[in-house]
Amino acid sequence: SNITFTMIKPDAVADGHIGAILGKISESGFKIKALKLTQLTVADAKKFYEVHAERPFYSELVEFMSSGPIVAAVLEKDNAVEDFRTLIGSTNPAEAAEGTIRKMFARSIGENAVHGSDSNENALIEAQFHFSGREIF
Ligand code: GTP
Ligand code: MG
Repeated sequence: SNITFTMIKPDAVADGHIGAILGKISESGFKIKALKLTQLTVADAKKFYEVHAERPFYSELVEFMSSGPIVAAVLEKDNAVEDFRTLIGSTNPAEAAEGTIRKMFARSIGENAVHGSDSNENALIEAQFHFSGREIF
C-alpha cells in the first residue's frame, strides 16, 4: 500500500472548508484510512515541524498550527505522496496551479490550508505521530 499524511490546517477549518477539501481529496482517488478533528499543542507543533526549527518562520508556523482545530488524515492511493502534493499545489498559494487545494482555499504562504507529507518515510512517521494503530483502517 502507498500512503500519505495530511492536515487541514487551522485557517481552512476556521474558514469552513473541511467538507470541500475532503470532497476534492475523495474525487481525486484517495481513500481515507484514518480521520479526526483535533488540535495540536504548542509542543506537538514544535515536534511535528522540528525540521524547520532554524527557519525564520518557525515560531510563526508553530503558533499558527496550534491556534485552532485541524483535521488529520491518512490517505491511500498509488503514488500517494507525489500525487497528493500535486493536488495541493505550491506552498505559496499565489504560485499554486489553478484547481489545486491551496489555490482554492489557502489564505497565504503561512496559512496555506493543507499539509502533505514529502516522502514515504515521513508519511509513516507523521501518521504514527497523530494516530494509534487502532485508528488506522
Ligand atoms: P507542508 O505540506 O505544510 O509541509 O508544506 P510544504 O511542504 O509545501 O512547505 P514546507 O515544508 O517548506 O514548509 C512547511 C510550512 O511552513 C508551509 O506549509 C507553511 O505553512 C510554512 N511556511 C513555509 N514557508 C513559509 C514562509 O516563507 N513564511 C511563513 N509564514 N510560513 C512559511
Ligand atoms: Mg513540507
